[in-house]
Amino acid sequence: MADWHTVTQYTLRPIEPADRPMVEQVLLQMWGAVKVYTLGNLVDASVLPGWIAEQSGSVVGLLTYRMSGSSLDLVTINAYRSGAGIGTVLIEKLAAQAPALGAKRIRVATTNDNTDALRFYQRRGFHLTGVRADAMTKARRRHKPEIPEIGNHRIPIRDELDLELAV
Ligand SMILES: CC(C)(COP(=O)(O)OP(=O)(O)OC[C@H]1O[C@@H](n2cnc3c(N)ncnc32)[C@H](O)[C@@H]1OP(=O)(O)O)[C@@H](O)C(=O)NCCC(=O)NCCS
Repeated sequence: MADWHTVTQYTLRPIEPADRPMVEQVLLQMWGAVKVYTLGNLVDASVLPGWIAEQSGSVVGLLTYRMSGSSLDLVTINAYRSGAGIGTVLIEKLAAQAPALGAKRIRVATTNDNTDALRFYQRRGFHLTGVRADAMTKARRRHKPEIPEIGNHRIPIRDELDLELAV
């Protein structure tokens, strides 16, 4: 894994109560609602623990997670500027924290259109563990109409791809 954070100087800190309005705003902006559909569940990410990445006092990234048995589920991850190492430092922080939380693995799901995320996770050691065919189509119909029909690269958003990293 590239050691970009040693040169880019991001500061990571846990989400605090005072950050909640900002977290809600980021989730609304990035995911259309504070509730996100991931790993087969609709989850309110605005109340979850997580990490904030800052650079020179400004927020540049956000990650939220929750425990599910012996798995640490990565619920949301957003870098405000892509390709600058922000996602990497957030994932590294989560992986370092995982054993102390009693996690044996980190799980994450991405959508079939998100080829950047699919590359990002696999380059950071995650393995594909499953495809939930049409999960997003069903989630749009049953839980979250805000899920766009068309995603990155004009690919219709239909499926969830599950990935895991052993920690
Ligand atoms: C997916 C996402 C979190 C990745 O975060 P990111 O900050 O762009 O990721 P990084 O910059 O750490 O890594 C991306 C690439 O940039 C490269 N990179 C990192 N720092 C760099 C630097 N300083 N200079 C040049 N390249 C750099 C990395 O090596 C990496 O390449 P690799 O995948 O071939 O190893 C981000 O693109 C994002 O917010 N996407 C939108 C939301 C989303 O889809 N979230 C995931 C939902 S499941």
